Amino acid sequence: MNIESIKKDFPFFAEHPRFAYLDSAATSQTPQAVLDAMQEYYTSFRSNIHRGLYQMGEEASERYENARASVARFVGAQPEEIIFTSGATASSNMLVRMLEESKRTDLFPAQKGPTFFKEEDEIVTTVMEHHASLIPLQELAKRKGSALKLIPLTETQMLDYAAAESLITEKTTIVACVLASNVTGSVNDVRRLADIAHARGALMIVDATEAVGHIAVDVNTLGADFLYFSGHKMLGPTGIGVLYARKDLLENMNPSIFGGGIVEKVSEESSTWTTSPKRFEAGTPNIAGAIGLGAAVEYLETIGTETIHAHTRELTVYALEKLGQIPGMHIFAAVAETNAGIVSFTVDGIHPHDLAQIAGKEHVALRAGHHCAALYMRALGVPATARASFYLYNTTSDIDALVEAIKKAQAIFAK
Ligand code: ALA
Repeated sequence: MNIESIKKDFPFFAEHPRFAYLDSAATSQTPQAVLDAMQEYYTSFRSNIHRGLYQMGEEASERYENARASVARFVGAQPEEIIFTSGATASSNMLVRMLEESKRTDLFPAQKGPTFFKEEDEIVTTVMEHHASLIPLQELAKRKGSALKLIPLTETQMLDYAAAESLITEKTTIVACVLASNVTGSVNDVRRLADIAHARGALMIVDATEAVGHIAVDVNTLGADFLYFSGHKMLGPTGIGVLYARKDLLENMNPSIFGGGIVEKVSEESSTWTTSPKRFEAGTPNIAGAIGLGAAVEYLETIGTETIHAHTRELTVYALEKLGQIPGMHIFAAVAETNAGIVSFTVDGIHPHDLAQIAGKEHVALRAGHHCAALYMRALGVPATARASFYLYNTTSDIDALVEAIKKAQAIFAK
């Protein structure tokens, strides 16, 4: 990979040539190709989709559907299995409500009962989850009076798959797991959990937010029944996200957001729904955002996710080595081989927020805090960490700048 030439694709780095941007896990930068695709929509063919019976309307619809096809291809899905949402949090909340609105017999043909989710059903998820994944499940469990069980960590801070074997039982209806942790970068063996879930008759939900565009993601290889992610962490614009659902499940599911564009027949009392995935995209969607995300996928495809992951893996190896040499440093990160390019750390005597603030003054962007993963922080035994995250435009000199910034913070706090 020629990083200097890749950097030229991102206007942000022309504006901020000295900036070490190590916060792509919070949001990535945007290549010119994505900006161009969105600009073209707004300037050349802006019109609503699936409505306009004129050339621009048709072009907008075609470009929107092409984006859906690109996203589907990128994760090994079919276009009709891809629903555009406003982001990963919206996808996760919407999915839980969609499951609640659906009939049990449609999702579990072997089982009887009027609704998908019943009080005696159990949900199994992990202590590694981001709040976007955990809290909608917690709320579902509260609404139904059901048990929510958490897969803990092992002593080496991996997911405890042996515990998962006994936590996931015949009573489990949903298993949910993050593919790549936003705290430690840990890439989890989701397939292993999916196999256990399926053997017990449960459905597998995967939060792939920090993974898509960073490591190879294929819904079939993972055994995911449902999978979601945001556009803005994979070079796309903000305000666009994706929910993947297995076609045979989605075809029988009911929408949870109602409005125009999703109906087949409307009467005074009730309505029937059109086919999926349109049934789940009520109202005017984020057309420019979807087109921008499609362009992001095409840009990522020209480089290749495997190549990007090999690069961030090298950066992770370098960061673990350089940070490990700093006295008073505590690192919270998966080993480079199973890391999506994220390293959290604390430094003795310096609060992570102070560290991030001093780093910011030194032109190094970090994130500090609990990273919306309170249960994981508790399991790791820290209230907060500083976090560096790497992507295709980062170099080892960004990590050198981080090391210098940490040394500067240590000098300030030593006074
Ligand atoms: N979930 C994002 C992060 O980890 C915002 O920073």
